[in-house]
Order: sequence, then C-alpha cells, then structure tokens
Amino acid sequence: MSTPIRKAVLPVAGLGTRFLPATKAMPKEMLPVVDRPLIQHVVDEAREAGIEHIIFVTGRNKAVIEDHFDRQYELEVTLTERRKFADLEHLERDLPIPGQTSFTRQQSPLGLGHAVWCARDIVGDEPFALLLPDVLVQSPRGCLAQMMDAYRQIDGKANMIAVEEMPEDRLHMYGVVGTGKTVGSAFEVTSMIEKPARGKAPSNLIITGRYILQPEIFSILENQSWGAGGEIQLTDAMIRLALNQPFYGVKFEGRAFDCGSKIGFLAANVAYALARDDIAPAFRTELKALLGDA
Ligand code: G1P
Repeated sequence: MSTPIRKAVLPVAGLGTRFLPATKAMPKEMLPVVDRPLIQHVVDEAREAGIEHIIFVTGRNKAVIEDHFDRQYELEVTLTERRKFADLEHLERDLPIPGQTSFTRQQSPLGLGHAVWCARDIVGDEPFALLLPDVLVQSPRGCLAQMMDAYRQIDGKANMIAVEEMPEDRLHMYGVVGTGKTVGSAFEVTSMIEKPARGKAPSNLIITGRYILQPEIFSILENQSWGAGGEIQLTDAMIRLALNQPFYGVKFEGRAFDCGSKIGFLAANVAYALARDDIAPAFRTELKALLGDA
C-alpha cells in the first residue's frame, strides 16, 4: 500500500510578467477564469482529489491570495441583508477548513525547485502533491484525482507526474519524459529533461504541472545546482531522485490549458464558459457573432 497523500504544495510566487500591466498590483493567480480565480480552480482540483492541507509558497505582493481564502465579514453581512443566500452559500463552500492552509514565502525567485524546497518543513516526512497553478485541466474527473487513482495501484515509494502530448515545435518550453513499460493506468518514466534543445526530446510527452512526490526530493533540492534558465529546476532534482525511486507518468483524460500564456488563458476562459449551463447559450451566440466578423 502506498502512503496516502494529504498535503498539496501550490507555488504562487511567480511575478506574472507575461500579463503586465494586469499583474502589476494583482497576483497572476487571481486572474479570473470565468468568475473564479485561477488559484481557486486549482484548489478545487486538489480538494476533489482528497487533499486536506494546502501549502501556498507565496512571495511579495501576494497577500490578496491569503485574503481570498479567508472570510470577508462585510461581504457576508451585506449578502445576508440583501438575502443573497445562494452567493453566501458559494462563498462558504469555497472556504478552506480552519487550520488546513499554510503560507510560506519564497523570498527570491530562484526557480520552481527552490519554491518547492521552501515548503519542506510544512510538508514534513510524507509524500505530497504539487500543482502548478499556471496549468488548468478541464476534465470530468480532476487531473490530480486521476493520478491518485493510479498512485493507489502502486506499492511502495513511488513518484508520479501527469503528462500530455505536445507538438514537436513546442517541446523545448517544457519538461519532457521518456517512456517505458505500462503499469496499470500509468507507465514507467525512463528519463526526464527540462527544456530540451530542439531535436533532443526523448518523446512528445511533456510534464503538465501535476506531481506526486516523495519527501526525499527535499534533501536533493537542498544541494541542487543551477539548471536551465539559471534556476534551481525541480526536474533536475527529480532526475536524481529517479536513481533511487520509481517515477510513473499518467496520461490524464481531459484538456490542459497553459494559463501562463495569454492564448492558453484566453482559451481556458472560453472553454470554462462553454462548460457552464448558466452562461454557455448566450456566450455561444456572442462567440459566433465575433467569429463571423473575424
Ligand atoms: C515548469 C516545469 C516544466 C513543466 C511546466 C508545465 O516549467 O519546470 O517541467 O513542463 O512547468 O507548465 P515553467 O513553466 O515554470 O517554465
């Protein structure tokens, strides 16, 4: 039996320069996809997968994320006075259970590996999930929940990453994995490389931004040297961990949106709006009119 995963790390320290000026005073994680902030969609995915405790690795100018996951008393009083009970109920449902969120700071932007390492004391000596909030996965069953299903079928200490196919000309922007034999609904990862040079990727499967990792990753990150882009790369630490522990890949069902890019973010908004019964009919009409004009 594999150890249950109770905690998830969400790195939210990034500057969001690709969305300036929108992100000058507002964290990119608070940009809305329809009417929920990006970060809320990712927390929803973690909760659906049974995660109990969310650890946010934040940075300067991110305090509003902490406020978002707290009560807003003035708002609650106003909504009660106006008898807007459905809105109140939605707010209540989204609130984390007291004591089950933690916030820690990455004081310098030294890379994803460093951000994960900043969560080491709060995670402690247990396996954990890692969700990159730039990536949204739209699927009938959440991406992390699908990974948990696969993880539960594997005995012993194992690590797992969600992967998706990507066209050849975009592989150099991601971590890419090499594939081995199939194990249940997963496959053995035989190699990993972060941001491979063109023509050097071992497959067309990229690391999508959802991971289940064993705590041994922290001692490796502690001594990790600089990697691609002059940053402490998580993928480089995973390559070292893979010398001692198995890594599995899961081709999840669903569609991933890279909301770190403008096109991915806009596409996510369209896809999530079209999936909403209350908005889709009117939105579809607007879209048709716009596309007709284009
Ligand atoms: C990070 C990871 C990379 C992964 C990507 C997914 O890269 O290092 O392996 O494929 O997220 O979005 P970043 O987007 O931080 O450059």
